[in-house]
Amino acid sequence: MKGIILAGGTGSRLHPATLTVSKQLLPVSDKPMIYYPLSTLMLAGVREILVISTGRDLPQFRRLLKDGSQLGLDITYAEQEHPRGIAEAFRIGANHVGDDSVALVLGDNIFHGPKFSDILHDNAQDVQGCVLFGYAVKDPERYGVGEVDADGRLLSLEEKPARPRSNRAITGLYYFDNEVVDIAKNLSPSARGELEITDVNRHYLRRGRARLVDLGRGFAWLDTGTPASLLEAGQYIRMLEERQGVRVACVEEVALRMGFIGAGACHRLGETMTGSEYGRYVMDIAREFASAEGAVEPVNGSTG
Ligand code: TTP
Repeated sequence: MKGIILAGGTGSRLHPATLTVSKQLLPVSDKPMIYYPLSTLMLAGVREILVISTGRDLPQFRRLLKDGSQLGLDITYAEQEHPRGIAEAFRIGANHVGDDSVALVLGDNIFHGPKFSDILHDNAQDVQGCVLFGYAVKDPERYGVGEVDADGRLLSLEEKPARPRSNRAITGLYYFDNEVVDIAKNLSPSARGELEITDVNRHYLRRGRARLVDLGRGFAWLDTGTPASLLEAGQYIRMLEERQGVRVACVEEVALRMGFIGAGACHRLGETMTGSEYGRYVMDIAREFASAEGAVEPVNGSTG
């Protein structure tokens, strides 16, 4: 499965903070926002990832994530000139997807919750049609809303309905089979001139090929679009990290645990950030991992 992170947009609700920098590079607690959706794809087992952003912001994403090899990934980049809709990602990324299935995640979507890795990984196997991820909210009229039958098959999909048929919001993480490339190619823009992801999902729905996986209670799907929600998301993450002594969306740790890199490589990534708690955490994790594994690789030197 290929991955796409869509990290363009204008971030207009965060102006002036986003006048010169991408929303998805702003910090949420101690790390850039894009680390969260990047971790999501990595936990799904996805290693070939296309980052789509604006021409203005791509150089910074490149500086941050490079070619991904330091994390055992293959990261490439493409431009979306204007925010012409989420489904445009499949036109821009058609070559990247090739004949594979694809996971799309919006660059400002933060997920955290029990068994998330299993949910991500299990649903990524042999994707048929589309898999959407639903989250119960108290104000579904602000979102795309899905209604499901007892087997999780999607029955209806409505965009910001005045009278929602369920409280399940559709989150910004989607799995599609390869047909999505053709669907997006033939899609007409909506009244507001955008290639709507809801229209893509409806295409699958009409053919009975859409599933909705419910992210249960105890899950966090955090909004980062406004100054207040961005701050709250950061506080939520910090509270969890402080309380439990673990880090959420530490991409170096995820790469290590997923087996994409070894403990030595992970430690060296931490060594480039010794001035921060984050960097020291990365080194600690690498050391712990190496001792649990019987340390075949040196973790504190320049070799290995
Ligand atoms: P939005 O929150 O709809 O837009 P935005 O991020 O530009 O913010 P604002 O509403 O404050 O202007 O977008 C959700 C995510 O999808 C965000 O990560 C940006 C991304 N996106 C694109 O990259 N391209 C697009 O064409 C659209 C519609 C969204």
